[in-house]
Amino acid sequence: MAKDKDRGLNKGLTSYGDSAFSLFLRKAFIKGMGYSDDALDRPIVGIVDTFSAYNACHANVPDLVEAVKRGVMLAGALPVPFPTISIHESFAYPTSMFTRNLMSMDTEEMIRAQPMDAVVLIGGCDKTVPAQLMGAASANVPAIQLVTGPMMTGSHRGERVGACTDCRRFWGRYRAGEIDDQEIADVNNQLVPGAGTCGVMGTASTMALVTEALGMMAPGGATPPAVSADRRRIAETTGALAVNMAAQDLTPDKIMTQKAFENALTVLLATGGSTNGIVHLAAIAGRAGFELDLDAFDKLGRDVPVLVDLKPSGQNYMEDLHRAGGLPTILRELKDHLHLDCLTVTGRTLGENIEAAPGGWEQSIVSPIGKPLFPEGGMAVLRGNLAPGGAIVKQSAASPHLMTHRGRAIVFSSIADMGARVDDPDLDVTEDDILVLQNAGPKGAPGMPEAGYMPIPKKIAAKGIKDMVRISDARMSGTASGTIVLHVTPESAEGGPLALVRTGDMISLDVPNRSLTLEVSDAELAERKKAFTPPVHEGSDRGYKKLYMDTVTQADTGCDFDFLIPEKPARVPGA
Ligand code: FES
Repeated sequence: MAKDKDRGLNKGLTSYGDSAFSLFLRKAFIKGMGYSDDALDRPIVGIVDTFSAYNACHANVPDLVEAVKRGVMLAGALPVPFPTISIHESFAYPTSMFTRNLMSMDTEEMIRAQPMDAVVLIGGCDKTVPAQLMGAASANVPAIQLVTGPMMTGSHRGERVGACTDCRRFWGRYRAGEIDDQEIADVNNQLVPGAGTCGVMGTASTMALVTEALGMMAPGGATPPAVSADRRRIAETTGALAVNMAAQDLTPDKIMTQKAFENALTVLLATGGSTNGIVHLAAIAGRAGFELDLDAFDKLGRDVPVLVDLKPSGQNYMEDLHRAGGLPTILRELKDHLHLDCLTVTGRTLGENIEAAPGGWEQSIVSPIGKPLFPEGGMAVLRGNLAPGGAIVKQSAASPHLMTHRGRAIVFSSIADMGARVDDPDLDVTEDDILVLQNAGPKGAPGMPEAGYMPIPKKIAAKGIKDMVRISDARMSGTASGTIVLHVTPESAEGGPLALVRTGDMISLDVPNRSLTLEVSDAELAERKKAFTPPVHEGSDRGYKKLYMDTVTQADTGCDFDFLIPEKPARVPGA
């Protein structure tokens, strides 16, 4: 029997009214797997196995589980893999965001329900890492994140390609008639050449980097490609670190502090990271007891420039960032903007981890802080009568000539309406207009789909126009680019001002001054509001969908379920 009543197999005994019998029964059953008493007396490290045959981003999870197990056993503990939900972006109906909170609840409850002294979270595809960190923050058992790692790039007719910025670029060219059916079929074979997460600065790469900056990942763990030996070595190290964390009772609340979240936000800005990153960090911070202050985040972005030359803000891929030294190369440049005294999964501070990392070398992926790729942070927060609760624009991936723009609104009332009309040759639209999409927010769609990257109407695209101002309450893939205003809060399905926009209204976007204005009088908006009715979604009266519709919060608080968020004692940034 384990000696410490709160460790190993003794933890969280199933309730039979007789704790000694509960332990006896538990040991009898697990011995059915062939374990010895020696093995069962060790500290236990749970390993969250998110392999799914639907999820190519997690195709290497079985290999990583083996490598983590090796690390755990070399450090003298017992590894116990167990499954949870796995979510892939393209295999989640209606959206992956809809199921993220379900995965976070699964993760939290399985960590809580099963005996483990520490847990290794293996995630990778966009929603999985935030879901796991949300669950881990709530369970507050020592936890360390391992990601599956980015995929390698493919090659199409001599050109390097990778999901999914190039997916969108080639699809845009196909829509504009620049490439034919054969070429679009050919490139489809090359965009995802193997296991791993999207190889650009999309949401998966963003979340990997901010998680390492947050202190929840082994140093250097964000960038090794999924199929590399480095990735397996990081997995082994992660297993060993988990054992150490169990011994020190290094729980998430000791690592995910207010200052640590500020570090993560700084890295989000400096990497030109995905706009989804701000929603997920708000949700993780919420679970840890912090509320994200969007205006303070915007202020931070005035001082933290974009340093990383990866698509879609730049030109390269994650494998290039790995060769350039990964996150430590970025952190070295950002030192003056970081809280170096934050504790990490190594038991050392972020500053000590940076010192211990291999020294820098000449490379062209991470710019020196004095010579940035973009002078401000990747994202800006907009306010105005169209977005009283805020909206986000990824300014580093927008068109400079559209950053200040006034145009006529062309309104689509839903994603279906947009699909039906956007390519209609009779649609009255010019490239100077502003496309507006309603009912694509957390409740509107539902599930806040990545529909904010609205297609340029075919007749405009055919003229060679690649960008227009687009505004919605939706999200956008981190792999996309354009002058696209997202996460308008409150969303239109909640009766926000976005719901009141009519085709022909004038809208002003002023990114330098952070404003988004609907040029319609308050009196007229009040009149329109009287006619507002929220959309009704079939199936919302039962099951998970009912739970989602009844309790999901708005984008500025991370689209978490309201009952999962504890009291909020502090705001981040602001440490
Ligand atoms: Fe999984 Fe892009 S679809 S990371």
